[in-house]
Amino acid sequence: MNAKSPCNWRIQTGSLQLTRMLDPNRPALVLAPMDGITDAPMRALQGLSGAFTYAVSEFIRVSGEPLPRKVFLREVPELAHGGLTPTGLPVQVQILGGDPEPMSVSAANAVRAGATAIDINFGCPAPTVNRNDGGASLLRYPCRIREIVAAVRESVPAEIPVSAKLRLGWDTTDAIYENAAMAAEGGASWLTIHARTRVQSYQPPVYWEPIRQVRESLGLPVIANGDIWTLDDFHRCREITGCQHFMLGRSALANPSLPVLIAKELGIAREDASSEVDWERLFRTLLAYAEAYGDRIKPRSLMRLKQWLKIAHNHGNFTQFNVLKHAESVEQFFELLAA
Ligand SMILES: Cc1cc2nc3c(=O)[nH]c(=O)nc-3n(C[C@H](O)[C@H](O)[C@H](O)COP(=O)(O)O)c2cc1C
Repeated sequence: MNAKSPCNWRIQTGSLQLTRMLDPNRPALVLAPMDGITDAPMRALQGLSGAFTYAVSEFIRVSGEPLPRKVFLREVPELAHGGLTPTGLPVQVQILGGDPEPMSVSAANAVRAGATAIDINFGCPAPTVNRNDGGASLLRYPCRIREIVAAVRESVPAEIPVSAKLRLGWDTTDAIYENAAMAAEGGASWLTIHARTRVQSYQPPVYWEPIRQVRESLGLPVIANGDIWTLDDFHRCREITGCQHFMLGRSALANPSLPVLIAKELGIAREDASSEVDWERLFRTLLAYAEAYGDRIKPRSLMRLKQWLKIAHNHGNFTQFNVLKHAESVEQFFELLAA
């Protein structure tokens, strides 16, 4: 792959570091970043189950000027607390953008704010993001993926891992081989691969097969992601990809018992991890975290609850969404839930 590379330079990739986030030699279950849903209160809630190894922040967009330290402290309030949720889950900071220079300065500022690992988003399919040279639009320019990863890698201390989150390609699944190789050449510590293209958006099916080839050819840890809805899906994904690292997004919200069941299969569940689900208790705990995070985050609570339940309705067996979506206040939400 490297010999055929259209780019005319390469840098040495660092050796794999053992980190708080991903230990290449140990299975891991990662909470996916979901913009507008997995904010700090939700990350805290997901940390309670004892199933996840770490969480990735919602993407923080770098367009134009580098982002200062205070933006990271605002967007990822865990950074002021050692990068951990109140429930002890480490949080990795994700940045998104197409220009290596402001991306690298922003990453360095994130580390100054307390980030212990950086992830770069090469998968966001949102049209506004893609029109502005960010997220999945970079999948059409493998050399730029390498440049961005390399610039970020060089701007932060060696002990800070820099990872890349990719889709399989823009419109073809084969693009992953070169894009993943470029991210590795840029010095990525590991890759997360959402197993579909930008054009496929979130439509089934997923294509887990290429993940195995990337993992075997690059020798980097690869986190398999996409459409692991059930324990059965997890088993198939593990068999097809050969991975020991997995990321769950929507299913963690649709079926809150799934992360614990998978973590048990992986042998990484905390001793007290329980797969019992009490929806009302989960909602009240989420609100308590939102309250603790203060006035900027608390007002979004009702919207967050509804976004969560929409996913649980569409992809799980939560049946009350059509009633609860009409709630105009948190109080009314619980009245409707009780009714
Ligand atoms: C509402 C929503 C928001 C998302 N936001 C992000 C994001 O900020 N950064 C990112 O890398 N991926 C984002 N994703 C993609 C997820 O991290 C994940 O790759 C995708 O949902 C597939 O995994 P799943 O099938 O387990 O949900 C988002 C997905 C959804 C549904």
